[in-house]
Amino acid sequence: MDLGLRGKRAIVTGSTKGIGRAIVELLAAEGCDIGLCARSEDEVADAVRDLKARGVTVSGGAVNVRDAEAYKAWLDRTVEELGGCDIFVPNVSAGGGMDSEKNWWKCFEVDVLHTVRGCEQLMPQLEKSGHGSIVIIGSTNALETFYAPMAYNAMKAALLTYSKQLSQFIGRKNIRVNTVSPGPIYFEGGAWEMIKSTNQKMHDATLKAMPNGRFGTPEEIARAVAFLASPAASIITGANLVADNGFTKRVQY
Ligand SMILES: NC(=O)c1ccc[n+]([C@@H]2O[C@H](COP(=O)([O-])OP(=O)(O)OC[C@H]3O[C@@H](n4cnc5c(N)ncnc54)[C@H](OP(=O)(O)O)[C@@H]3O)[C@@H](O)[C@H]2O)c1
Repeated sequence: MDLGLRGKRAIVTGSTKGIGRAIVELLAAEGCDIGLCARSEDEVADAVRDLKARGVTVSGGAVNVRDAEAYKAWLDRTVEELGGCDIFVPNVSAGGGMDSEKNWWKCFEVDVLHTVRGCEQLMPQLEKSGHGSIVIIGSTNALETFYAPMAYNAMKAALLTYSKQLSQFIGRKNIRVNTVSPGPIYFEGGAWEMIKSTNQKMHDATLKAMPNGRFGTPEEIARAVAFLASPAASIITGANLVADNGFTKRVQY
């Protein structure tokens, strides 16, 4: 199946490592021009160099998406360098953690506000595209109780309702909005490798909840994102695609 991604311009936040990196690798392999960011300047430079080798245009920036002005300036620069934007994937998260009020604010600013600010800032470009597509990265932590009442889980839940309502609001502009909700994803340097070394019990219990006995991979999430981002998914908007190896137990109606 041709996804129709060739020549599309995709901006993905938090894309030097993990799931975000797998998304930009796959989108570039499918022929998309890429805008990527992270906080580490060196890692951005490495990612830009690696992706350019695929023969697509790549624009990278070292920016903390929590800094509203710097983030918006980076989005503007990226749009200028790519000549527009067809696909936006807000992927950065402040991550889980136990929960001071300070952490709630951080999770709100990073997970929720960077997504909302990005969608608003890129709206004119996505409308111009004629095939605009936003894919928000959620988490199964928003769908079922997980571990503890964390800001992370609540912010991911907020993104789900934002995604659905935005999809209704901007459907007339030919912009689709969907969420991909990954279950636990294991990769070198990722959160689950860290949890394995610091909380073996939690790691093992999580693994046990996966019917096929393994964690998901960033590449598997990237394939779900690439499909939803692509014109091949033209009928799908307002959806939440749970990509979790069967980790969650609820029935999805
Ligand atoms: N891993 C999982 O099991 C899992 C499960 C469900 C959902 N998710 C979701 O999937 C998404 C990606 O998760 P991941 O595990 O791949 O993350 P990760 O390994 O922590 O990678 C995060 C990426 O974002 C960048 N980043 C982090 N904070 C940033 C900030 N404030 N501003 C700009 N860039 C920033 C990082 O680079 P720098 O550090 O250089 O900034 C890196 O490139 C998140 O939304 C997460 O909630 C993950």
